Amino acid sequence: MIFAANFKTNHTRESTKKYIEALLAKIIAKKEEDKVYIFPPATALDRYEGDFVLGAQNAYMTQNGAFTGEIGLQQLEEFDIKTILIGHSERRQFLGESQMFIADKFAYFQSCGFEIIYCIGEPLEVRQEGRESVMNFLLSQLEGIDISYEKLIVAYEPVWAIGTGRSATSQEIAFTHQALKKIIQKPLLYGGSVKPENSEEIVSINGVDGLLVGSASLEAESFAKIIIG
Ligand code: 13P
Repeated sequence: MIFAANFKTNHTRESTKKYIEALLAKIIAKKEEDKVYIFPPATALDRYEGDFVLGAQNAYMTQNGAFTGEIGLQQLEEFDIKTILIGHSERRQFLGESQMFIADKFAYFQSCGFEIIYCIGEPLEVRQEGRESVMNFLLSQLEGIDISYEKLIVAYEPVWAIGTGRSATSQEIAFTHQALKKIIQKPLLYGGSVKPENSEEIVSINGVDGLLVGSASLEAESFAKIIIG
């Protein structure tokens, strides 16, 4: 299983360091095959030792240059960061990232050999239209994306389940994951209100290869519970 923590705009450099120390101490007993990823804010990227992967929540598709407010490859290389989240719904919604822009970013980081956790997920109004609309919407978020990329991991995160406390039901997750698996033969994570109370059930669903966790990953104790079970 893959367990990924997305801190979003939470934690500082100092608190991230403490978090990682605390988490690593707690997950010493994790299954060897389980993989842990942490995506702190860009200001907390650093070099860390330990059995986990540190990734970037975002970066611009450039080595370096005049892109005020952005970080590029040069800033990630300083810490040997080779993993990135692309397509998160918050960047699509609040930062205005279009599918074309996201596909360009994907192609850039693919050409740089990054491991990419690519996020897709439908808003509530699409979910309310039924499963066919959901699948069409998710397919539209794969436009321009090389789904055969060897270092691709996909995360299905229904927008209405993110940060709402209302995770998708096991049946909804099972249906969507199994339908997606027919299209993309890649590890497929679920995200959206995952917490220690529901994580065990979600990881047991056929077609779920791991979890992408926001709020419940912010405390090391809670994320460790999700990992260890
Ligand atoms: P929550 O776990 O807070 O719902 O966030 C999920 C998410 O967006 C992870 O990328």
